[in-house]
Amino acid sequence: MSDKKTFYITTPIYYPSDNLHIGHAYTTVAADTMTRYKKMRGFDTYFLTGSDEHGQKIQRRALAAGKSPQEFVDEIICNFKKLWQVLLIENDDFIRTTEDRHQKVAQELFQKIYDQGDIYKSQYEGWYCTSCETFFTEIQVGEEHVCPDCGKAVEKMKEESYFFKMSKYADRWLQFIDENPNFIRPESRRNEMINFVKQGLDDLCVSRTTFDWGIKVPFDEKHVIYVWFDALINYISALKGTGDGSLYDKFWPADVHLVGKDIIRFHTIIWPIMLMAAGIPLPKTVLGHGWVLMGDSKMSKSVGNVIDPLVLCDKYGPDAIRYFLMREMGYGLDCNYSEEALVLRINTDLANDYGNLLSRTTGMINKFQGGMVTPPGEATEFDQELIALAEETPKKFAQLMDNMEWANALAELWKLVNKANKYIDDAAPWALNKAGEKSKLSTVLYNMCEVVRMVTVMVSPVMPGLPQRVWQQLGIEEKPELYTWDSLSWGKFPSGGMIHRGDPLFPRIDFAATADTVPAEAVEKPAAQKETAEPVEPIGPECSMEDFQRLDLRVVKVLACEKVPKTDKLLKFTLQLGNEERTVLSGIAKYYQPEQLVGKNLVLIANLKPVVIRGIESKGMLLSACGKDRLQLVEVENMPSGVKVM
Ligand code: MSP
Repeated sequence: MSDKKTFYITTPIYYPSDNLHIGHAYTTVAADTMTRYKKMRGFDTYFLTGSDEHGQKIQRRALAAGKSPQEFVDEIICNFKKLWQVLLIENDDFIRTTEDRHQKVAQELFQKIYDQGDIYKSQYEGWYCTSCETFFTEIQVGEEHVCPDCGKAVEKMKEESYFFKMSKYADRWLQFIDENPNFIRPESRRNEMINFVKQGLDDLCVSRTTFDWGIKVPFDEKHVIYVWFDALINYISALKGTGDGSLYDKFWPADVHLVGKDIIRFHTIIWPIMLMAAGIPLPKTVLGHGWVLMGDSKMSKSVGNVIDPLVLCDKYGPDAIRYFLMREMGYGLDCNYSEEALVLRINTDLANDYGNLLSRTTGMINKFQGGMVTPPGEATEFDQELIALAEETPKKFAQLMDNMEWANALAELWKLVNKANKYIDDAAPWALNKAGEKSKLSTVLYNMCEVVRMVTVMVSPVMPGLPQRVWQQLGIEEKPELYTWDSLSWGKFPSGGMIHRGDPLFPRIDFAATADTVPAEAVEKPAAQKETAEPVEPIGPECSMEDFQRLDLRVVKVLACEKVPKTDKLLKFTLQLGNEERTVLSGIAKYYQPEQLVGKNLVLIANLKPVVIRGIESKGMLLSACGKDRLQLVEVENMPSGVKVM
């Protein structure tokens, strides 16, 4: 038996009634990222996903399609598996609730809870949303009789049912939550669930008799088990029902159930109470992430604003899509999808920052050292600054990854990428070469290789297709010892090897030329997506050349950037303008994360009269292109600061 620590993570099992969109893909990519990261940290990992194939919704969809439910789900499941493959998802198991191994465990659990007296027969009278497969009370559906979650019409239900005594467990649940502050994350959802339970729990209807597409109640064949009760059990049936069941002993309780915020109640109230009743240990954490939004609404089939991840992967590659999803959604928050936002991320983070770093590294090694990575000379204080950051980044990155704050972890990593780009600008290898400073040049180029290697190791769980291409370019494609977490200490890069400069990893995308080729199945396309709907502002009054020349526009480099405390809008820039450093405030905090901007070359109106805002003197104004609800700073590539713009 291995004495490695174990890590078991699950996604929800998806309904085969709808095509999967990038909102669904988020959860699976996050679980895959986390699994790969934990594996790299030495854990024995198990990653489960699957499909939730029973229930009234599926039965009706199948009927409408003129198929048996089984035929209907069988066809769709192939698409699920294909999508996960394309997105480079490496799940250990894919559970289907129609499999025998699941049905057996589900029936055993139902029987056990019944035998001990926590399931009883009665009559259900109330409302049901087939789309969400959820029961609601008269008060919850209101006078319009619509589902409080999805807004669709609910159906009146009156039938004989079995009930699960949830009410009996409310106090035990509250005590458990109190003793296990990490069980529901983030904190805001934990508080929401506590408030919900404190208002009292009703017993839950756990069987249906008016349709038959489900798992039979073992002692009463007229009933099928309520689809949510059935589905939640997948997290243990996949372990218990496989092989000799030893997976269960090894991996249960789960470390993380990763779920969207819409299904957090099922996972943090119903599921743990089912387990308490059955005497099974509870999972350690349920993380409720936010939604991928399109415009103002959740991306979903019923709204008709879904984006097909297969089309996106085909166009931009799975690594870029995975990076976007992981970088864009803050911990516990929603994020907005638009193709423009995706392209912006690819162009800034991947093409400009990371891709450029590799390309500059290999380009200069080729040009100045005939393609060879030569040994570094002694590190100066200037080199030490970069080395220190590279050495402390893995610790910070790991802390955020362990806490499942993926967007923050990537932002932390990109501080190192940006620092390295700035290091090149400041070190000016081209000048060192010209001056014949061979040892210094060698140090700088070696350090660049080492930073690229370390960043690539850390980012590999997010972009698993990337490293191999980078290792080839750096000439270390046969040195797996340099790809491990333990290799993340400075100075491991071998000298004396040859690099193989290749194509850019992430070529810049011309958004205007490629936009709108990924169609949303838009019934009502959110306004922000209508590229042509934005009115063009009228051209202003004529001005003379002299008027224009009064403005002194200069290239400036962003040395530092931070949010101004107590404002939502303002960013404070420290800019380099030739030999001068100056402070400029700009009201663009809504559009950029400060760390994203460090190292960029922007355009400044340098002779604008200074103003004092919140006690800070701002000397000049940064140019940007401003559309409705969007803004992009004007950037200048490969021009030193201080150069005039005309
Ligand atoms: N079948 C149930 C889950 C049962 S788990 C025991 C279900 N399936 S689902 O297909 O509707 O949703 C699966 C997951 O996808 C949920 O976690 C849901 O929150 C997530 N998402 C669906 N649309 C989403 C977005 N637009 N954004 C982020 N996640 C989204 O619920």
